[in-house]
Amino acid sequence: MDARIAVLASGAGSNLQALLDDAAVGSSIVLAVSDNPGAFALERARARGVRAVVLEPSHYGTRWDHDVALEHLLEEEGVEYVLLAGYMRILGPNVVRAFEGRVLNVHPALLPAFPGAHSVRDALEWGVGLTGATVHLVDEHVDHGPIVLQEAVAVLDDDDERSLHARIQEVEHRLFPLAARLLVEGRLRVDGRHVRVLAERPVSAAAGLPSDGASG
Ligand code: GRF
Repeated sequence: MDARIAVLASGAGSNLQALLDDAAVGSSIVLAVSDNPGAFALERARARGVRAVVLEPSHYGTRWDHDVALEHLLEEEGVEYVLLAGYMRILGPNVVRAFEGRVLNVHPALLPAFPGAHSVRDALEWGVGLTGATVHLVDEHVDHGPIVLQEAVAVLDDDDERSLHARIQEVEHRLFPLAARLLVEGRLRVDGRHVRVLAERPVSAAAGLPSDGASG
């Protein structure tokens, strides 16, 4: 896969790790960005030789200044795709517009249920029997863009926030790299809120052969 991907992360970075470990996606990650200098995600990126940059919000006069600095950094690195892997800031409208259709976010709930920063706790408090993980395209609203992949996770009677989040994250670590791959391979077709996944190109087309040219 030939692409330039940036991953934005604010915390532990287990999703970044899953992306780095993916055979197809990992080698295309050229940049990790965090708003949090203490984010372990930065260490994970550096351990793989990926440039890791901190853009600390307090170093910028306004939210807009921070958004512009992020946009410039992404441009400077020639980034084509942006993956939000536990990035706890709202992506500025300038970046959303510059990368329209090329930004994915992973969220620990079945959107549109439980958007926001406390979705695992909210699901537990609500008493739902099912929650899950969602990967969606990012638009200018929080946890809102068209859904690419979703998978349900059952809530168990003795779950607390930590145990439920851990099982959701196992799903995230599978779904997010897969969605990233589909995006970069150009296999997502967006029609309003609906995202269709195109089948892989047939081998014959990829090889430039006529479509009936493949032999058994
Ligand atoms: C993930 O559960 C993600 O869905 C949410 O933040 C968490 C980040 O975890 N947005 P990690 O930093 O990837 O381990």
